[in-house]
Amino acid sequence: MESKVRQAFKDMYHVEPEVIAKAPGRLEILGNHTDYNQGTVLSTAVDRAMTVAAMAIPGRECELTDIVTNSRRRFSLDNLAKPAKGDWSNYIKGLIVEMRKRGMEVPAFKAVLGGTVPMSAGMSSSAALEMAMLFALKKLAKSEISWLDCARIGQGCENNYVGANTGLMDQFSSLMGKAGQLVYSDFRSYEVSNVPIPAGTAFVVANCMVKHNLTNEYNERRAACEDAVKVLAGIYPGVSALRDVSPEQLEAAKDKLAAVSYRRALHVVGEISRVANGAAALSRGDCEGFGQLMFQSQYSSTHYFENSCEELDCLVDIAKNLPGALGARLSGGGFGGITVHLVRKETATEYMALLGKAYLERTGLKADIMACQAADGARYL
Ligand code: GLA
Repeated sequence: MESKVRQAFKDMYHVEPEVIAKAPGRLEILGNHTDYNQGTVLSTAVDRAMTVAAMAIPGRECELTDIVTNSRRRFSLDNLAKPAKGDWSNYIKGLIVEMRKRGMEVPAFKAVLGGTVPMSAGMSSSAALEMAMLFALKKLAKSEISWLDCARIGQGCENNYVGANTGLMDQFSSLMGKAGQLVYSDFRSYEVSNVPIPAGTAFVVANCMVKHNLTNEYNERRAACEDAVKVLAGIYPGVSALRDVSPEQLEAAKDKLAAVSYRRALHVVGEISRVANGAAALSRGDCEGFGQLMFQSQYSSTHYFENSCEELDCLVDIAKNLPGALGARLSGGGFGGITVHLVRKETATEYMALLGKAYLERTGLKADIMACQAADGARYL
């Protein structure tokens, strides 16, 4: 894809691009909806990415071409106040707006982009687009931006421009990924470290091919978490996020919480403790233990956070009886999209075939099933 993007740029504009940047999508491995609750996540950047080639030009008019969907957008730097409803160019316009808030002025530009991250599936094609584009834009604007601010600019674009109140996990993973490693992120201290993926295992990803409206449901889930924090803070001094609440404290306060807020909090508090247990399991090489935590995470999504759906449940249910299965769960926001499966490497090919066959038999749907490798984070080419 990198060479295709570069060539397309040259064909279109008859010059070499000034900058080429690439940023990967991500898989959330454990820790669902914990990022905006100041919790922890184990994730990974994947070998599917967005590549952007760009060049500054005089004037105020920008031109963007996506060579995968064959679509082009033109907009003026003086006309960024209103997002165009549901349009992919919002992910770029929103970045420019966020950069301006931080005192950076982006010149007009021409850009060509192309990606291999499945769109709206739960592998964060949007964060890949944002981080690749931001790397290009900061070069064109001759601005230095720390990795944490890059992540915040991406999040600001989602929250303030696109209208999704997402956390920082997608951007952290796209920026800080390392080949062969997981990314362990702490969304209170903003510390990030890499954890080796256990030898002899592989990640299989299955797109259930069903998509639900993420933005409304997502924002509603976040609001329920905030409602739980409000009540819990009144009971336990020092609580400012679900990160501060232990499973025991939550249980003891159950009657004081709205039933829905309790279930949402139960998921998040459980996920935060599963991430801690998961990291410990990995450090002793216990991939069976880690896989069980993935299955527990799915159970919690289905029953408490209610961000799963029949199709995702079905994929995980099939996984439980497949040879070489260690664990499986939905990955990312939920409400459709993908499941991630940790499998024994030598069985991965057979696993993928059996998963696809059983899913087709049960639902009539053809899942998009792929093997994914953990890859390096955003960079210039
Ligand atoms: C989406 C959001 C992330 C995170 C996950 C759920 O991917 O963009 O910030 O909240 O959902 O863990």
